[in-house]
Amino acid sequence: MKKVITLLGTLAVVLAMAACGSEPADKDNADSNGGFTTASEGKLIMATNAAFPPYEYIEGGNVAGIDAEIAAAIADKLGLELQIDDMEFDSITGAIANGKADMGLAGMTVTPDRQEEVNFTVSYATGVQVIIVAEDSAITSVDDLFAEGASHVIGVQRNTTGDLYTTDDIEKKGLGTIDRYSKGADAVQALKTGKVDCVVIDNEPAKAFVQEVEGLKILETEYITEDYAIAMSKSNAELYEAVNSTLQELINDGTVKRIIDKYITAD
Ligand code: ARG
Repeated sequence: MKKVITLLGTLAVVLAMAACGSEPADKDNADSNGGFTTASEGKLIMATNAAFPPYEYIEGGNVAGIDAEIAAAIADKLGLELQIDDMEFDSITGAIANGKADMGLAGMTVTPDRQEEVNFTVSYATGVQVIIVAEDSAITSVDDLFAEGASHVIGVQRNTTGDLYTTDDIEKKGLGTIDRYSKGADAVQALKTGKVDCVVIDNEPAKAFVQEVEGLKILETEYITEDYAIAMSKSNAELYEAVNSTLQELINDGTVKRIIDKYITAD
């Protein structure tokens, strides 16, 4: 019997250690701020992919844009210093799931697959997947991409929803091939040089890219509308609660709208 008890005791210690190990190092905010902890003491680390104007882009060596400003407003309200880590888009949810970053703001669409890995806050913006083509393109509507016998080469940013949808709707059905780029702007350059026939990407970066590259246009017909939200860890309920309710406050008091309107003019 004694042996069993010792064994149970050991197990309890091991479990307790495991529990500690999985928790972020910062314990300070736990006492001062509604019981949450962050990846790094006193900081709120945002993971993003700063190649997605006007949501996030590099300006003067720093990450600027809608997401950076919303994150700054959240950090400010929580009394934390915002740190922004720029990475590949498809590294963001992993960085959050493994506790390297506290939240992901990247014009990120809520999808069921991503919800398996991370928790999403309330949505703070909508995005629309659109199609960019050359001005004289034979592709005139989104339906042309799904037409019988279609065989277009479609440029996308790797692992974005544009990639996921076109892979399912077009590539898997033998209606074309997908060229995946690490940045949306690279897909747009490939369109410019004729390597791809069109680019499927979110409407706001699409507008920004088309403005910079001559001879391209955005088709009137849209692919799909989606919700952007902040991705957070599934194992830090307190921080999720703090960030989600702060974001909701910033939506309610008009701050989020003000930030978005600064970058996106109604058309
Ligand atoms: N909304 C799309 C998605 O979630 C594209 C987001 C790309 N964001 C970025 N920062 N590169 O897949």
